[in-house]
Amino acid sequence: MICNATKPLLRKISYLPNTQCLGSIVGFLEVRKPVLMIPILTNTYFSGAGLMDIGLQAGGLTLQQSFEIEAICCDSLRRNFSHEVVQCDITKKLVSSEKECQVMVATYPCTKYSPIGDIHRVRTGDDLFLHFFRHVAIRRPELYVVENVPGMKKFPVVMEAMTKLPDYYVHVACPVKSSIWLPQKRDRLIIIGSRRNFAWREPKSEKPVTLAEILEPDPAPHIPDYVGRRLAGKYRDRPIISDPQRGDIAPTCVAHYAKDLSTRLVADRRFPRGARPYTVREYARLQGVPDSFEFSGSSNDAYRMIGNGVSVPVGKWIGAEITRYFR
Ligand SMILES: C[S@@+](CC[C@H](N)C(=O)[O-])C[C@H]1O[C@@H](n2cnc3c(N)ncnc32)[C@H](O)[C@@H]1O
Repeated sequence: MICNATKPLLRKISYLPNTQCLGSIVGFLEVRKPVLMIPILTNTYFSGAGLMDIGLQAGGLTLQQSFEIEAICCDSLRRNFSHEVVQCDITKKLVSSEKECQVMVATYPCTKYSPIGDIHRVRTGDDLFLHFFRHVAIRRPELYVVENVPGMKKFPVVMEAMTKLPDYYVHVACPVKSSIWLPQKRDRLIIIGSRRNFAWREPKSEKPVTLAEILEPDPAPHIPDYVGRRLAGKYRDRPIISDPQRGDIAPTCVAHYAKDLSTRLVADRRFPRGARPYTVREYARLQGVPDSFEFSGSSNDAYRMIGNGVSVPVGKWIGAEITRYFR
């Protein structure tokens, strides 16, 4: 399937006299049978630090533009990727100013669809999704993807916008469990809209990485005083302590971990009261982020970007499925 964005590229390729000159565009699966590997140009919206983008790229997609409002996130994106990062407020962005692509991926913030949103009486769910809807309706890409919490299903208006666009076949996968790959409980809703019908495969169950495997040998976590107070039962809620020896997995990584490192702890007998917070690197590994990835800003910024992110294997599964669609 070839969209308008790649047509000029294809034409250019067919004029080239020697296919060996095509560099990364042409891959030779067999010596005598050259196969065109058209890049699957992908734009991501509400991209954060790009955890989803790591996965999409690993799954075979070519990142073209990422749109994100926060400077620290854009900085992280630029440190780790070579594609264009646009710092902007998507609610003010004209679709016509963006590059054409085959795939649009949106991970708009989910606080309003989460149970925590209920607690704070902000569970309205009626804003940023419309801007992605606007992008898809105007650009009509070959494919669009939405990632969010399963709680989004409780918002009929949001679900209607994301699943009833004319001319799209829509696949809803829920819950997609990160725990089939990683030692973290994290369930998500994935919507894939495509211009032609396709048999999307569910993520395959694998032997997940264990909590013991992602822990640093000599961790040096920051341990604020309130961690000891929570462990001593001074607050209403006890911490969630995951023990690698018992085969536990960690609870869902959250963005607000940066504000209270005492809520989620890992059992570690070397520390007072036998438990400690996760280090930034361990928190990133819980989301499947490779150790080579560098976060900009402070540790608190890193915890927040990680907690906000899409776990990398989820992005990789989506990227690989989309690659299968195009091939
Ligand atoms: C759930 S996070 C994205 C996580 C990201 N996909 C990842 O995997 O790392 C949502 C992001 O949307 C950004 N955002 C919120 N409102 C925005 C707006 N109006 N325009 C652009 N980005 C926005 C936030 O700064 C946040 O980084």
